[in-house]
Amino acid sequence: MSGRIDIVSIFPGYLDPLELSLVGKARQDGLLDVAVHDLRDWATDRHRTVDDTPFGGGAGMVMRPDVWGAALDDVLAADETTARRTVLVPTPAGERFTQSMAEELALLVCAGGQLVIACGRYEGIDARVAEHYAEHEHIAVREVSIGDYVLNGGEVAALVITEAVARLLPGVIGNPQSLVEESHGSAGLLEYPVYTKPPSWRGLDVPEVLRSGDHGRIGTWRRSRAVERTARRRPDLLARHAPPHVRLAKGVDAEAIADVAARTFALACPPDLPADDAEAFVAEHLNAVALRSALRSRDRVLLVAEVAGAVVGFTMLALGRPEAEDVREVVSDRAGAELSKCYVLSEHHRSSVAAELMRATLSEAQRRGVHSVWLGVNQGNERAQRFYRKHGFVRVGSRRFAVGSRTESDYVMERTLAS
Ligand code: ADE
Repeated sequence: MSGRIDIVSIFPGYLDPLELSLVGKARQDGLLDVAVHDLRDWATDRHRTVDDTPFGGGAGMVMRPDVWGAALDDVLAADETTARRTVLVPTPAGERFTQSMAEELALLVCAGGQLVIACGRYEGIDARVAEHYAEHEHIAVREVSIGDYVLNGGEVAALVITEAVARLLPGVIGNPQSLVEESHGSAGLLEYPVYTKPPSWRGLDVPEVLRSGDHGRIGTWRRSRAVERTARRRPDLLARHAPPHVRLAKGVDAEAIADVAARTFALACPPDLPADDAEAFVAEHLNAVALRSALRSRDRVLLVAEVAGAVVGFTMLALGRPEAEDVREVVSDRAGAELSKCYVLSEHHRSSVAAELMRATLSEAQRRGVHSVWLGVNQGNERAQRFYRKHGFVRVGSRRFAVGSRTESDYVMERTLAS
């Protein structure tokens, strides 16, 4: 059964774009019926007036309830066979229009329900109109905003809403899979970046993984980029849909951990450390092969933090007494493990990822009978020192630490675990 969308406006011509593109084609194919009405057809005076001055004073004009009432009565009655109707009133003062609302409305339209969009202008529509229709048993009224900005009227919002709803109707989009993966889909993530030919353009290359043909790696890469984008651009979405999940790392995580290490190691180094030295250190000690061997080792414990299925941080505990003389001299006799890595992608620094990871790592150490954990942190990395202090570590001394051609000074910090 094809559904129906009615749009009422004083500028019906504004809605002409609904004859174009996918929505236009859906209408031609009989998948969707869209009717646009001129509100002034229901005005009763010779000037076809639809507005008047606001009670209580103030700037601007308000749209009259009697004109809107006559229009909506007719438009709603035009389709009397329909049991379910929704009247949408676009307004910057409305609830936020979202993908899930679009899905809800598509279900209504798809089931043969009627969607009426009442486009206000000026200072809006007299509040009694929404109140009146909301009292009707079979009519839902929703005042919706398409974003936190003010437009001149509801027509642009009606275009936005109609397109967002229409493309969800069966048969409108050729490949329904594209609905699953796109931004604001069920995963609550923004979409990953996409590329096409040519493979190299103005010195910019398509990421190697996308040309590898390895669908497992491609899937992992896309998920990581989607999470990275969402964390940078819309951290609110992640906080709502994807709380971090911390678990023990497995062999298959080696590449994802190496990727996090490559993206974060330089951040933990002093700003004047040559990039080559940081890169050489990562290539030698934090590559996937080295990590795979750490994952197999009995005296290494690795944990990963995942957000929406992508690894965004990891820790590594090296169990046992410290080997280096300068560390042995400063830590306590109880020191039974080094927190040798604790990296979280920078876009998650302001979230709860690092705290969750630290909590889980310390409790894993404790579970394994460790009484005290130590770590080395670059003396210039105050952000990390603050983080470790917050998690109970105190400074006990210093050590030398080689990164590439340079020897860095680290503070040594230690934290006792409750026994
Ligand atoms: N009318 C004016 N501004 C609007 C907005 N942001 N959303 C919906 N309708 C509007």
